[in-house]
Amino acid sequence: MCGIVGYIGYREAYPIVIKGLKRLEYRGYDSAGVMLYDGKALNVSKTKGKVSNLEEKSASENTINGSIGMGHTRWATHGVPNDVNSHPHLSNSGELAIIHNGIIENYEPLKKELINRGYVFHSDTDTEVLINLIEDVQKKDKLKLGKAVQVALNQVVGAYAICVFDTKKPNEIVAARLGSPLAIGVGEGEFFIASDASPFIEYTSNAIYLEDEEMAIVRLYKPIKIRKIKDDTLVDPYVQELQMNLEQIEKGGYEHFMLKEIYEQPNVIKDTYRGRLLANSGIIQMAGIEDNIEKFLNADRILIIACGTSWHAGLVAEYIIEEFARIPVEVEYASEFRYRNPIITNKDVVIAISQSGETADTLAAIKLSKEKGAFVFGVCNVVGSSISRETHAGAYTHAGPEIGVASTKAFTTQITVLTMMALRLAKAKGTISNSDFHRYLLELEVIPEKVMEALQTNDISKEIAAIYKDAPNCLYLGRGYNFPVALEGALKLKEISYIHAEGYPAAEMKHGPIALIDEKMPVVVIAPKQNHYDKVVSNIQEIKSRSGKIIAIVTKGDVQVKDLADHVIEIPDSSDALSPLLTTIPLQLLSYHIAVMRGCNVDQPRNLAKSVTVE
Ligand code: F6R
Repeated sequence: MCGIVGYIGYREAYPIVIKGLKRLEYRGYDSAGVMLYDGKALNVSKTKGKVSNLEEKSASENTINGSIGMGHTRWATHGVPNDVNSHPHLSNSGELAIIHNGIIENYEPLKKELINRGYVFHSDTDTEVLINLIEDVQKKDKLKLGKAVQVALNQVVGAYAICVFDTKKPNEIVAARLGSPLAIGVGEGEFFIASDASPFIEYTSNAIYLEDEEMAIVRLYKPIKIRKIKDDTLVDPYVQELQMNLEQIEKGGYEHFMLKEIYEQPNVIKDTYRGRLLANSGIIQMAGIEDNIEKFLNADRILIIACGTSWHAGLVAEYIIEEFARIPVEVEYASEFRYRNPIITNKDVVIAISQSGETADTLAAIKLSKEKGAFVFGVCNVVGSSISRETHAGAYTHAGPEIGVASTKAFTTQITVLTMMALRLAKAKGTISNSDFHRYLLELEVIPEKVMEALQTNDISKEIAAIYKDAPNCLYLGRGYNFPVALEGALKLKEISYIHAEGYPAAEMKHGPIALIDEKMPVVVIAPKQNHYDKVVSNIQEIKSRSGKIIAIVTKGDVQVKDLADHVIEIPDSSDALSPLLTTIPLQLLSYHIAVMRGCNVDQPRNLAKSVTVE
């Protein structure tokens, strides 16, 4: 899981590559490197740490000149993050350079073979094996770079998005992908190659997304050639127009991307339902659903597969689809599902949820489901991502680029899409009355305003954060629709502030976790005035009588919980089913402020990456 950028054209490559790497740091940021070719020599700088460290190093080493360049920001898989293991890696001759996102699984036997043939390795990486394999093939069979890359790739097992450069062919970069994303920006007399389109968005809006098992030969002043790696067939390049703009991927005056993205939620929820939700006419229309409605209606069950925050959105969807559409739903961690020989039939509909659309486990679970005959529907944010292309049909969340590693707007827009799906299916099945259907549509339409109101809890969330920022542990409790929100709240806190946090269904407390409660334990209780309110009040009393500190998320005007809790955060009233879209907001703000106060790197928490393209 790394970010890669390549440039070939008429401009200085260095600033483009560096800026591009900064935009790709969400994919990994434990080390970085850059290679520039100035017409005479290959100049490489590599360093442990962030792209900003690389900038200092390359300035001091003067590796900044040339109009061909490649750069890499790393999330370590093979070999610790250090200067030597950073990319680019060079072949033994020093003529070939590679940047790689992915894992070469059979690197060990290949490495042994290459060592036997006299190759020497400097790093612990699988990538250095690949570049020497390419060199070996090139020399043995006297092949041009493109062909040598192709032959070598046919010998490797694993996943990759790569760029390879050869000083003997200085007007060319060879790119290839299998299982890791790769986009090629097509400009006038210049090309950009990157893990996503953000590094080149201000230069061109024309992009080609390579498919799995495709490679591209990108040459100056020549048309791009794309081939299938396995059988060498030529593929017609499909150039598409990009939908994002530069403003969308910059911080827009906020201190962190995470905060910006939290505040974007009213607008992006609107973007999510725009054109799909026609509340006044009583219509929900989603192309992917309309075209496949029979598949959903005839399904024995719906299986939801996802990871992390997307899995939490899946849990909310389980409640909402079962309640409205009365279709049985099971929610699975993609990483478990893919390895447990699950029972899947062609009567199952699988919904795969993923912000990035690149999560390796989710992708593998989709492939498995398809093999077993299920119809697979994707709910993704990133347009053109691997999952959006691998699924039979789908619905984009339209949240715009999410840069902060902790998911915020992705979660609420996923819930928005899944809620619309549940309502649309319920309508088609006749499991919801016309009046209820219409009522939910109208309520969904005004949710952005309520989210805006919920965002006004920022100041109180900050005050509470200041009180609990040093707590070593924290519990999150919720019931019904708000049980997954409790899980999500706990995940947000632990991933960005490194405080140990657990989410539980409130009623499970008495089966164990209640033993943890004492006067030092903050307990965040999600207690909006809906279905399970009285039960949650009882749970709050149980915590109170054991001296736990209660932070309650309540409906505006609540008095009962206010009397019991140490702190309350008030959110607007809503129906039970739509409440996760509101209760989530103060939890996002709370964890954000705690992390900032603890001095944590909010947008790039340690050990994490935005797009988990390794299993
Ligand atoms: C948490 C978070 C992760 C992701 C998970 C799945 O804030 O961001 O838990 O939700 O890695 O990623 P996607 O949705 O891209 O498949």
